[in-house]
Amino acid sequence: MLNLAYNNSTVVNPGLYTNNLADETPKKEEPHSYMGIIGRSDKMEQVFRLIDKISDSDSTILISGKSGTGKELAARAIHQSSHRRNRPFVPINCGAIPENLLESELFGHVRGAFTGATTQKSGKFEQANGGTIFLDEIGDMSPDLQVKVLRVLEEREFERVGGAKSIKVDVRIVAATHRNLADEVKKGNFREDLFYRLYVIPVTLPSLNERSSDIPLLVDYYIKKFNQHNNGNVEGITDDAMDFMVKYSWPGNVRELKNIIERVVVIKGEGRIMSSDLPDNMKTKEDKVIRTSIEISKEGICLNSAVNEFEKALIFQSLEKTKWVKNKAAKLLHLNRTTLVEKIKRHHLKPHQFHQCSIFESQPSSN
Ligand SMILES: Nc1ncnc2c1ncn2[C@@H]1O[C@H](COP(=O)(O)OP(=O)(O)OP(=O)(O)O)[C@@H](O)[C@H]1O
Ligand SMILES: [Mg+2]
Repeated sequence: MLNLAYNNSTVVNPGLYTNNLADETPKKEEPHSYMGIIGRSDKMEQVFRLIDKISDSDSTILISGKSGTGKELAARAIHQSSHRRNRPFVPINCGAIPENLLESELFGHVRGAFTGATTQKSGKFEQANGGTIFLDEIGDMSPDLQVKVLRVLEEREFERVGGAKSIKVDVRIVAATHRNLADEVKKGNFREDLFYRLYVIPVTLPSLNERSSDIPLLVDYYIKKFNQHNNGNVEGITDDAMDFMVKYSWPGNVRELKNIIERVVVIKGEGRIMSSDLPDNMKTKEDKVIRTSIEISKEGICLNSAVNEFEKALIFQSLEKTKWVKNKAAKLLHLNRTTLVEKIKRHHLKPHQFHQCSIFESQPSSN
């Protein structure tokens, strides 16, 4: 058996950062940043506390969250906070590599294993020896490969494609998925045994619209960052534009926000970001979010405006449910029709004006 123990330096490459997040080396000094992950909402602070507790163990971690919520960033932060930080961090996107290539990417192959395998090649598990392997989009892996990965999880042992020799490695496994893996298990798309092997420590990253109090922080962070990268001189953002940012639904999460700020900083180059600089789809009324559950952030919350927003959300919901038949909507809210009409006017509500969203966070004050 080939045993690639922790100190076997022949396969270790501490500089093995292979994709475009490599330049986002964690900077501890950034305010409200945990190893490069920006956030100060309660939900993100919970994530930071969890990462802090789990980083240094060797337990397998399963990170879930929608696209662009920072799963890879979190995986890197976990590696950087661990005792493995000076060893390689090896990411592999299991969803982006064709099945027949993925096996040899993960486990390597011997010479002559298949047509074109002219030399022996080590796989990602070997390259990650002593460090962390990041199995991104593991929910997209084929059932055949799931079995093979299960074995590595259980025994830290595998064979190269076409090889007979077992190779032992010392790797920490961090996996990520944008899917609900428990659902995939129920549907028969993901092996239950592998699911439970991965689901040792789950880390769930909230969507950006569940933590809108972080939006101003992220906007400032990325303005500063893209100013530096592009010799830009953008000074900030107007209240109007920030209002659009905070109310937008952010289907692409932080990645979408980052791209928008980059675009504006590069194109505008100076002055303050105004609402006219933002993409039109952010400003359509359809994309504003009304939030219907409440989280009080550390900065507190203005009770009057929160109650006001909540009332608005409920009225809008009842109107949408009744296709704007005001008699029916009034009944749903136990109001008489005249009171409802007054409230509709006061809140300036119109059909299809807002999306509903499950989380309400206090809106940041502008000072
Ligand atoms: N909390 C955050 N603070 C700063 N930048 C962030 C944060 N979350 C994500 N980003 C940035 O957003 C981009 C997307 O993050 P990342 O690739 O980690 O997301 P992901 O969840 O892996 O997305 P996908 O599912 O699409 O692969 C990256 O450039 C990352 O640096
Ligand atoms: Mg990712």
